[in-house]
Amino acid sequence: MTASTSSPPPRVVFITGGASGIGAQCARLFASEGYHVVIADINAALGEALAKEINGAGSTQAVFASCNVTSLQSLEEAVALGVSSFGRLDVAINCAGITGGKLQRIVDLPESEFDKVHSIDTRGMFLSLKAELKVMLTQSPTSSSPRASRGIIINVASRAGLEGVPTFGAYCTAKHGSVGLTKVAALEHAEDRIRINAIAPGLIRTPGHTSDPTHRDLDARLAAAVPMKRWADPEECADAILFLASDASSFMTGAVLEVDGGMAAKSR
Ligand SMILES: NC(=O)c1ccc[n+]([C@@H]2O[C@H](COP(=O)([O-])OP(=O)(O)OC[C@H]3O[C@@H](n4cnc5c(N)ncnc54)[C@H](O)[C@@H]3O)[C@@H](O)[C@H]2O)c1
Repeated sequence: MTASTSSPPPRVVFITGGASGIGAQCARLFASEGYHVVIADINAALGEALAKEINGAGSTQAVFASCNVTSLQSLEEAVALGVSSFGRLDVAINCAGITGGKLQRIVDLPESEFDKVHSIDTRGMFLSLKAELKVMLTQSPTSSSPRASRGIIINVASRAGLEGVPTFGAYCTAKHGSVGLTKVAALEHAEDRIRINAIAPGLIRTPGHTSDPTHRDLDARLAAAVPMKRWADPEECADAILFLASDASSFMTGAVLEVDGGMAAKSR
């Protein structure tokens, strides 16, 4: 009898905030690594264009799922679209996020601004975890190896989730929440063979985090505080996320991987 030569089916990655910035770069990188991609985002124009780009580029497929992370129903529908399109959910990247508006101290920060940032960056991540875990818990590990998992989740936190940043009261506390969610979820599911880690990016040049031209001096001042003296490209975050999604990180869960040009080394 001849051994079967069929290769395993492509793995499937689900990305909230997958239409722009770090999430979009993850979509491109994971597609190039042979994953089918689900781009879940509120921005349909960007999300659909990216899915088209990926579908035109190679052998793996992408779908766009219209998704607002402030709604559990919307997230469940987006996850369901991914599962019906590609059969399972191997990796979820929770990247949807906003920074908030004007820089101001807590004493001046409007309640509505605080609530808006928390509804996406923390509550949205909580709801994303619920929708993703529900599916992953029904799946079998990918192989009998002790390193194999039922599912892998990477939460995109921030350097601001690990230290106080004056005038970033809403974002900073929301990202501390995302670090807490990562640790709790990792401990709750360590024995289920679902690994949940976070990355804490520093300054990453994306549409969401690039100041307008009138703030170029602020960009330069921020970069001066980074030991490596520069902003990073989104590719540098996507590479770290791919590592956390791979078997190369098979004994990591509940970790926060800092991708910040050395800023963590200054604050510990
Ligand atoms: N760029 C940085 O310097 C930096 C640093 C630390 C952390 N982060 C985090 O990285 C993540 C991605 O940020 P980015 O810089 O790539 O920004 P970005 O604005 O380029 O991308 C964010 C994406 O999230 C989507 N989104 C926003 N609200 C949503 C919602 N309610 N439902 C679904 N999708 C929604 C947007 O449409 C967009 O596609 C965010 O969580 C951000 O806080 C970024």
